[in-house]
Amino acid sequence: MKLAVLLSGRGSNFAAIHEAIADRRLDAQIATVISNRADAAGLARAKDCGYDAHAIPHRDYPTRAAHEEEVLRVLALHEPDYIVLAGYMRLLSPTFVAAYPNRILNIHPSLLPSFPGVDAQAQALRHGVKISGCTVHLVDENLDAGPILVQRAVPVVDGDTVESLSARILDQEHEAYVEALQKLKSKT
Ligand code: GRF
Repeated sequence: MKLAVLLSGRGSNFAAIHEAIADRRLDAQIATVISNRADAAGLARAKDCGYDAHAIPHRDYPTRAAHEEEVLRVLALHEPDYIVLAGYMRLLSPTFVAAYPNRILNIHPSLLPSFPGVDAQAQALRHGVKISGCTVHLVDENLDAGPILVQRAVPVVDGDTVESLSARILDQEHEAYVEALQKLKSKT
């Protein structure tokens, strides 16, 4: 199972997947890592791990379509089975999604369909929910929608801040992404 990882930042979900592959908990390979930010810590980590890793900064392209075209061109070189969005902070156009139908995964730090979009953990705290968590789902043309593959719940506790809740959810994200990929692998 060949994966391509798209990320924009820290890359802890990428690292969790990398470690699961290295520990043989996940039978997959990461064919390429692409970031829309040249300074993403996750991109540096991917390079350190010896992966084929590319910065394709969206700001270098006149339009969203032109940027996506370049990302799609690089992806196609690697013929990935799945595209793994791991903190990739760009909306994908319907054209992009159509290039890999039901083969793009995303992770979101809430129990979808609650709290899609940005600042999911802050939204959860504002609403006063007592349980939150994370969701791995297939990507369709709508934001943070698409069929759910795995969810993991965490408690929201008194005194939680965005930081403390985010950290609790992030621990579960790392497990959930590996579990979702293991599930997909078992179906191939
Ligand atoms: C995670 O919270 C993920 O759910 C969200 O962006 C964050 C990425 O974290 N989509 P990292 O870059 O994988 O550490």
